[in-house]
Amino acid sequence: MSEPKKWVKEDPNNRFLFWPTEIMKKKAWVSDESIYKEAEKNPIAFWGKKAKEGLEWFKAWTETYQWDPPYYKWFLNGKINASYNALDRHVKTWRKNKAAIIWEPEPPDEPTRVLTYNDLYREVNKLANVLKSLGVQKGDRIGIYLPMIPEVQIAMLACARIGAIHSVVFSAFSGESLKSRMKDAEAKILVTADGYYRRGKIVDLKANADLGVADTDIKHVIVVKRAGNPIRMTKGRDVWWDQLMAKAPLYCEPEPMDSEDMLFILYTSGTTGKPKGIIHDTGGYLTVALWTAKWDFDLHDDDIFWCTADIGWITGHTYACYGPLLNGATILVYEGALNFPQVDRWWEIVEKFGVTIFYTAPTAIRMLLRWGEEWPEKHNLRSLRLLGTVGEPINQDAWMWYFNHIGGGRCPVIDTWWQTETGATLINALPGIGPFIPTVAGRSFPGTIHDILDETGQPVKIGEGGYLVQKSPFSPGMLRGVYKDPERYAAQYWNTYGDKIYYTSDGAIWWDELGNIRLTGRVDDVMKVAGHRLSTAEVENALTQNSSVAECAVVAAPHEVKGEVPIAFVVLKQGINPSTELESELIQQVIRAIGPTAKPAKIVMTDALPKTRSGKIMRRILKALVKGETVGDTTTLMNPETVEDLKQKVG
Ligand code: WTA
Repeated sequence: MSEPKKWVKEDPNNRFLFWPTEIMKKKAWVSDESIYKEAEKNPIAFWGKKAKEGLEWFKAWTETYQWDPPYYKWFLNGKINASYNALDRHVKTWRKNKAAIIWEPEPPDEPTRVLTYNDLYREVNKLANVLKSLGVQKGDRIGIYLPMIPEVQIAMLACARIGAIHSVVFSAFSGESLKSRMKDAEAKILVTADGYYRRGKIVDLKANADLGVADTDIKHVIVVKRAGNPIRMTKGRDVWWDQLMAKAPLYCEPEPMDSEDMLFILYTSGTTGKPKGIIHDTGGYLTVALWTAKWDFDLHDDDIFWCTADIGWITGHTYACYGPLLNGATILVYEGALNFPQVDRWWEIVEKFGVTIFYTAPTAIRMLLRWGEEWPEKHNLRSLRLLGTVGEPINQDAWMWYFNHIGGGRCPVIDTWWQTETGATLINALPGIGPFIPTVAGRSFPGTIHDILDETGQPVKIGEGGYLVQKSPFSPGMLRGVYKDPERYAAQYWNTYGDKIYYTSDGAIWWDELGNIRLTGRVDDVMKVAGHRLSTAEVENALTQNSSVAECAVVAAPHEVKGEVPIAFVVLKQGINPSTELESELIQQVIRAIGPTAKPAKIVMTDALPKTRSGKIMRRILKALVKGETVGDTTTLMNPETVEDLKQKVG
């Protein structure tokens, strides 16, 4: 196979620019630049065509797009079912016996599990019947608190089949986090597991689930037996998955859903301490999940697609479940840690199954880079043909390392920008078109419109930075609201530039006249800690629950591997002395309230926080301190002397 040895071009400004290889151009679903112009001419018609072409509708829509700011609807009055499109369509074809999910457990001596489309179809139908037999009706909310095992996709699709709304909670979130989400969603049922493996140890998930369902409306807990660890089953409430499934009928009619009916709610962090329930619809979400999975990752029938994201995040929803399954693709699902039993576990899996498309987060790439290229070099990674990243800005070193040492200089790196709110990728290069530019995500996906505005709402020029926004017609995959909180929806996304412009809270720079965009990170108090979205306010809430804490402020500090980490500044109540015991107690408090991902990297105990004369904490100063930047003017502070003291402590 002839592959261009050197496909690196340097542009006149000495930056790296990569273009698709001939092989990629030939194979890619889209390789003609004109797709952008075509879609731009009439985005509504473009999406209408894509929705029709990619999905099977029980009833055609009567109106493609309706906009009543700040709300929009797509494919109005159309009837569709997500599980039918992800499964029934494929089992009617040769794909019936194609692998839908290849599941790799963490313990290396445990066997791989493969579910064909027909297997997955049967399991989903059975579970849908189980849910019905437990009284679940269309529109009910179901909590899913599962590790990365095939039951997670089964549970999501079973909900979708009967029109129940799933709300998946990341399995590493604490019982308390689970509870607040289940309460807000008013969930009826929780699907969970006894435990799962993480770095060789069993995590007792059921114990957290028990905490999470106490004092909620949850009537039944369906428990998957995964790790076999001893757990407590509450009589009348808890039931084993296997027992229910053994009796379940094999077929369940898919519920014709209105295109605008909710498919799922996914809680995500905003700028307050309370996570918000992001609402996604059915038809619009499915359309964009399908086409972005197909075009961004150039997904073909002979591919094995591995998205390493946990299902508890939007990336897992869209690219480890809906997107690839709608395309009839084979997905790889791995249960465990990337460094178990050794740091080459991921590469061992890529080699073992011949993974062709690999999608992960920059934080993981930076970690792998640190461990060194000798680990991937032990494995034959030539099956890979496309690499992707998501979740935070990627630095040039990590990009180049990924490109050279994982992709062997053959595979384009698709840097996809998007959010829980956008449902699917929005800004990235397309593999057959390019260019692929380290640190630059790329262009708006065909049929979507973005702009970068300054503080006054004026568009910025090429090379200048501002705030990323989206304009109407909004992508069909965009959120349809914040669950039970329309005010928050309006205030968070439709206030900065009025109710006709979606505000992303991300900083961005126009890269060139082609419309390439470089993302520079969040401009609000949302952190990305090892790719996980968290708010500083959530960590503050957790800390102030401790009776020793009078006041605290949490800011994100840059971190070489994790991207960002929370640093907590804590003022103790009078008479309480700082100690290492108290520090670890506070860290435990955060783990209990949110989960280990939110653990502060450092707790700085101080007598006072820098405040304005009106008593507002000056976060700007704390941010500058943790970034090692100059603090600037402190004369307006009530207590400028605290800054020197904190400078010493932060070090
Ligand atoms: C950030 C993840 C730079 C961004 C899918 C966004 C990125 C937030 C990129 C959403 C990227 C995501 N380059 N930044 N390629 N992808 N982000 O909701 O700040 O967990 O607002 O969704 O991640 O995080 P969320």
